[in-house]
Amino acid sequence: MLSKLALFTLLLPSALATTSEVIAMGGAGNGANLDWASLTYDESSVVSASNVTLTAAPKASNKFSSVSLDGALQLTARIAGDKMYAYMSGDAPAESGCCAGILRAFETDGSYSDTDLVELVSDLFSEVTDWAYATHTFDIVDGVAYMMIQYEEPSLNNAKADAIVALDLETGEVVKTADGDSYFSFFEKLATDSTAAVDTIFSIQHYATSRRRLQGPPGPSGSTEEWHGNGILPFTSVDGTRLFAITHRTMNECVVMSDPWQTVGGGRILQRFGNPGIYSSSGSSTSSHVFGMEDVSSGNWNGMHNAYYAVSPTDGRESITVFVNSNGGSSSALYEFDLKLVSEDSVLAGDLDDSVFDTAYRTLELPFSTGSQGGARPIGPMVDGKNVYVVAGGGSNTGITVVSQDGESMNYNPSSSSVYDPFVYYTL
Ligand SMILES: *[C@@H]1O[C@H](CO)[C@@H](O)[C@H](O)[C@H]1NC(C)=O
Repeated sequence: MLSKLALFTLLLPSALATTSEVIAMGGAGNGANLDWASLTYDESSVVSASNVTLTAAPKASNKFSSVSLDGALQLTARIAGDKMYAYMSGDAPAESGCCAGILRAFETDGSYSDTDLVELVSDLFSEVTDWAYATHTFDIVDGVAYMMIQYEEPSLNNAKADAIVALDLETGEVVKTADGDSYFSFFEKLATDSTAAVDTIFSIQHYATSRRRLQGPPGPSGSTEEWHGNGILPFTSVDGTRLFAITHRTMNECVVMSDPWQTVGGGRILQRFGNPGIYSSSGSSTSSHVFGMEDVSSGNWNGMHNAYYAVSPTDGRESITVFVNSNGGSSSALYEFDLKLVSEDSVLAGDLDDSVFDTAYRTLELPFSTGSQGGARPIGPMVDGKNVYVVAGGGSNTGITVVSQDGESMNYNPSSSSVYDPFVYYTL
C-alpha cells in the first residue's frame, strides 16, 4: 500500500505537465465526418510511444465535434483559435494531390463560410496563365493563410511550378510580399536554368521542356511538374527571424528561406535538406545533391512531405521534421534536421559545395509504408536518443501513429482513411 506522501509525489509531476491534444484526422477526399484522436502525454517526461495515450477524442472535450465537412477535403486543414480552416475540392480539378477550390472556415457550432479559391487564384495569375490553383497545404500565422499554389509557367513550356499566396483571413484580401508581388513564385525568385551543380546550391534548378511526365523529370506522357510543392511552414526562429520552409516532393528536399513578406528581396535560400536531383537542360538526370544528410540518391529514396518546426525544451535545438514516403527500403521514414542557416554571401566561392548545408539530424523508420501524403512532428522534451513523434499515415490509411527512438509505437486508426498530416490539432 502506498503512503499518502508517496501517492502525492507520484501524481503531482504528471498532473502538472499533462498535455492533451485533440487531433483532426483529415486526408485526401475525407467526406462528411472527420475522425478525431485524443493524444495525452506528460510533456516533460514522455520519452517513448509507450508513455502516451492515444484514443478516440470524446465528443464532450472536442470543440469541433459539430463540424461536418460537407464536401471532400483536399488535402488538409488547420486550426487557429476557435476556427478550423479546411482546403476543400470545390470546382478545382483533381490531379496528383492538387487542387483545392475552396478555403472553408468552420465555427465551433459547425456553421461555415467559404472563400472561392478558384476565382481568387486565377485572377492573381491571369496575366501569366489560365491554369493556377491552390494545392496540398496552407498554414496560418497572425491571421494570414499562406497557401501553396501550383500554376503553369509559360517560361517552362507550361510545366507546372509552385508559388505561395498569402490571404488575410479577416479581410479576405491578398497580402502582397515586401517586394509588392501578389504571389511568390519559386520559378521567378528561387530558380536557375543552369545545369552546373555549383549553380544549383543556392538556387533551385528548373528547365523548359517539351517532354512530359507527371510530377517529375520529363518522360513520355502526362504533364511535367517542377517540383510538386506540398508542405508550407511559415515560422519564427528563436532569434526572431521570420522564415519559410517548403517541401518539394519530386526534388526530395526541404528548402528554408527568408520570409518574402517581411523583407524586400526576401525569399533567399538559407538551408536545404535532402537529395535533390541535378538535370541536363533536356531534363535527363545527371546526378544529385547531398544536402545535410547521407547520400541516398542511388536508392529509391523519395517523396518528401510537410515540414514542422520545433524547439527542444531539453537541448534548445531548433529543428524541422519532414516525412519521406520511401526510405529506399520497404518503409516510410521521418527526418528531423537541425535548423542551421547559411547565407550565400557568407560562403567564399572556393568553399561552395553541398557541404555548406551540413547539419545534425535524426531519422526513424516508420512501421508502415505509403507512396502518398504523410507528416510528422515531435512532442515532449525532445531528448536526443529518446525522441517521440506523432505521425500521419498518409495514403497507407493507417491513421495516426506515435513512434519513438526506442522502437515503440502506438496506433489509432478507427476507419482506415488517409490522414495527410498530424498538424490539425489543438491542445486542451
Ligand atoms: C516511459 O516509457 C519508458 C519505456 O517504456 C519507461 O521505462 C518509463 O517508465 C515510462 N515513463 C512513464 C512516466 O511511464
